[in-house]
Amino acid sequence: MDGFSDNDIRKVIEADKAHVWHHLTQHKAFETADPRIIVEGKGMRVWDATGKEYIDAVSGAVWTVNVGYGRESIAKAIADQLVKLNYFAGAAGSIPGAIFADKLIAKMPGLSRVYYANSGSEANEKAFKMVRQIAHKRYDGKKHKILYRDRDYHGSSIGTMAAGGQNERNIGYGPFPEGFVRVPHCLEYRAQWDLSGEEYGVRAAEAIEAVILHEGPDTVGALCLEPVTAGGGVIVPPEGYWPRVQEICDRYDILLHIDEVVCGMGRTGTWFGYEHYGLRPDFVTLAKGVASGYAAIGVMVTTEQVFDMFKDDASDPMNYFRDISTFGGCTAGPAAAIENMRIIEDEGLLDNCTAMGARGLANLEALMEKHKVVGDVRGKGLFLGAELVADRATKEPVSEKEVGAVVAECAAQGAIIGSMNRSVPGVNNVLCLAPALIATPDDIDQITDTMDRALTKVFG
Ligand SMILES: Cc1ncc(COP(=O)(O)O)c(C=O)c1O
Repeated sequence: MDGFSDNDIRKVIEADKAHVWHHLTQHKAFETADPRIIVEGKGMRVWDATGKEYIDAVSGAVWTVNVGYGRESIAKAIADQLVKLNYFAGAAGSIPGAIFADKLIAKMPGLSRVYYANSGSEANEKAFKMVRQIAHKRYDGKKHKILYRDRDYHGSSIGTMAAGGQNERNIGYGPFPEGFVRVPHCLEYRAQWDLSGEEYGVRAAEAIEAVILHEGPDTVGALCLEPVTAGGGVIVPPEGYWPRVQEICDRYDILLHIDEVVCGMGRTGTWFGYEHYGLRPDFVTLAKGVASGYAAIGVMVTTEQVFDMFKDDASDPMNYFRDISTFGGCTAGPAAAIENMRIIEDEGLLDNCTAMGARGLANLEALMEKHKVVGDVRGKGLFLGAELVADRATKEPVSEKEVGAVVAECAAQGAIIGSMNRSVPGVNNVLCLAPALIATPDDIDQITDTMDRALTKVFG
């Protein structure tokens, strides 16, 4: 690393070990080993403090750096904006805030309003709060329930955890707020009904309807779903699912909230995951890929109809969205997001994502042919999963420890891949890939070749 001696690096590692509390980490391990400290990134690759190079198959570990590392044009857009105006609270407008909103809305027919926040959890909370406020304003507080799906994830705040379909994540953090109700997942590989294909999809959607009828449609305000479930195991809903979900929302006057925090901004080969399914969402939340991690940003996008409910009666002093996010007023996020969007457009990254996603899926299918431990592979665009099973007939999952061993072996061989961890009890057995949208065929092959060797090493 330029300008850093071995001694300097050692000091960094010691400072980290002494004072930094890492996310999602049991720190006992660092009493005998050093934490991984990533010091540099370029394109698809990152380097750690020991100088080891990795191909990053998960875009910053959590599907974020969609346009790759080391983008000077984004850094410059941020720097220029910060010198001009770094911050002013979001009750006022800003130049990049207005320009990005305009560009984003141009890609989202039917939606018209952008609310700025600074993370995916926060963007989702904004939508939840709007649903609640609409319930109080229009329905005497009755139509306040928010439905969420088994295996989906919407964030780390207590409110979004109440809408969390990954039970292991919630252990030890309750009690949670009321008014959140779970609907079944739609993963056909772990089928809950003896059907397949489109029929399965329709049945899984009808299971949502059954919950609505059980709760009472006049109590249900919104349905919050990921277009493709991410950390819950890369679940692409079956054919037939989404049209029926849309119909059900329309029938019972339920607001459809699509959480695009992972799928948004190109990850599945279209700007947004919901485009694949022709949905008409009332809320769309975005975060990770919006500025590819160059600046913190979360956005909640909604319709003019929802917006109007918060402004139609100006004589009521409480009739506006009484919410603020301090850092939703940072200008670096939208400044970075404008340039991030330009890069995706000018470099044809949506098409590349589709092509490289197809290659990745084909490579995973080849791994399934070769390794009997790979029970299922699935994905959309550059968002791919491989489910590992001890027995293909019974679909018994391998242990989380074995999944961890594959991930660790890939890292030892220079590829950072992802996996479910401590999310859904008993089935944390899915390996995840979400490389940057700039991936080349060689990059994709390097990732899956490394997985091939790691699977051989762990399972023989
Ligand atoms: C689908 C989904 N929604 C929301 C979130 C929460 O985003 P954040 O960590 O930015 O709060 C995540 C994070 O992984 C996510 O995967």
